[in-house]
Amino acid sequence: MLCFLADDFGRPFRYSWRPLKSPSLSAVLIYSLIRNLLFLLPPEIAHDFSMFSIRNGGRLKFTNLVGGRVKSCPTEVMGLKFDNPVGLAAGLDKNGDYFDGLGSLGFGFVEIGTITPRPQPGNPKPRLFRLPQQQAIINRMGFNNSGVDHLVEQVKKRKYKGVLGINIGKNFDTPVENAVDDYLICMAKVYEYADYITVNLSSPNTPGLRDLQFGETLKALLSRLKQEQADLAHRHGRYVPLAVKIAPDLTTKEINEIAAILVEQKIDAVIATNTTLSREGVEGHPHAGEAGGLSGAPLAGRSTEVIRIISKALDGALPIIGVGGICSGSDAADKIAAGASLVQVYSGFIYRGPGLIAQSVNAISGLSRDTG
Ligand code: FNR
Repeated sequence: MLCFLADDFGRPFRYSWRPLKSPSLSAVLIYSLIRNLLFLLPPEIAHDFSMFSIRNGGRLKFTNLVGGRVKSCPTEVMGLKFDNPVGLAAGLDKNGDYFDGLGSLGFGFVEIGTITPRPQPGNPKPRLFRLPQQQAIINRMGFNNSGVDHLVEQVKKRKYKGVLGINIGKNFDTPVENAVDDYLICMAKVYEYADYITVNLSSPNTPGLRDLQFGETLKALLSRLKQEQADLAHRHGRYVPLAVKIAPDLTTKEINEIAAILVEQKIDAVIATNTTLSREGVEGHPHAGEAGGLSGAPLAGRSTEVIRIISKALDGALPIIGVGGICSGSDAADKIAAGASLVQVYSGFIYRGPGLIAQSVNAISGLSRDTG
């Protein structure tokens, strides 16, 4: 029997059917079949349908079929124990509706959000664009989410036993001068339920958000959040680490300045990077002119470069979570080699499926064997 699939670049090819011996190969093939069907749908409908299937598939253990086996690769970062160093990046499960199912695919950690104090619809549709030949995505979602109270109700029902990060942001209509209030509201509400909290300062789709990454503004913001962290730790009897997520569109000087402030403010980790405003690698694509952040393969090199620069500046003072364009095990290993302790995937997970988790874990564990 013949079935028609697409290759890594979305081009169809003929696959000659035979019984599959390797579970990871069968998982990859099942996923590429599912992906090709999903890609016939508009991106947001495909997203909702996939998340619904993952939630229900998780309950029925169906997700094991597409997930493959992920070996354990214990890692300790920020004082937290991770079963493996490969996580899901923020933005796929903004409201915490699906993380039990997503976690069952084998991620060592799952980051939910970005969540804001009040629900907001995000930008008008269309706002999500696939660029399959480049294994890339452009999005200008604009923090569409159901608000922090909804997320808290979801995480109260948590079954997922891996590490859970909660990514927080500000409402689009909160003036940037008052952004700290939104972060404080979210922090106080999610603190009890999070294993770590990410302060998102780097989404390009909320006007003014990225300005919070600089100088005195950053210092004042982080100092207030650290004070709140100390109060909450005292109140709840548990220290929840704070990570800061940065953009890839920064100069070396800016990265060095950010690193110095993160160290000074005793931030627990940095996540590098969010999506880019650059269109390098997708020039000429019909969607290249769409406003928003570019993610996926074209971002890989720049994101790894930012990790390398900030790793040098931090000199081990705090750990780095590397994200941006991981589409293969070797991409994940590159991030670790550049200085990251953990990695996250988003676009590569859409294009390559859950098999990317096992590939990344294998490549990273091979790397640590090689380097002793
Ligand atoms: C994102 N990303 C993101 N990041 C974040 O901190 N909060 C968010 O709400 C979102 N939302 C979001 C939506 C969509 C559709 C995409 C594609 C991405 C950024 C994401 O977490 C990650 O940092 C980048 O996408 C780079 O990684 P990849 O996609 O190249 O693996």
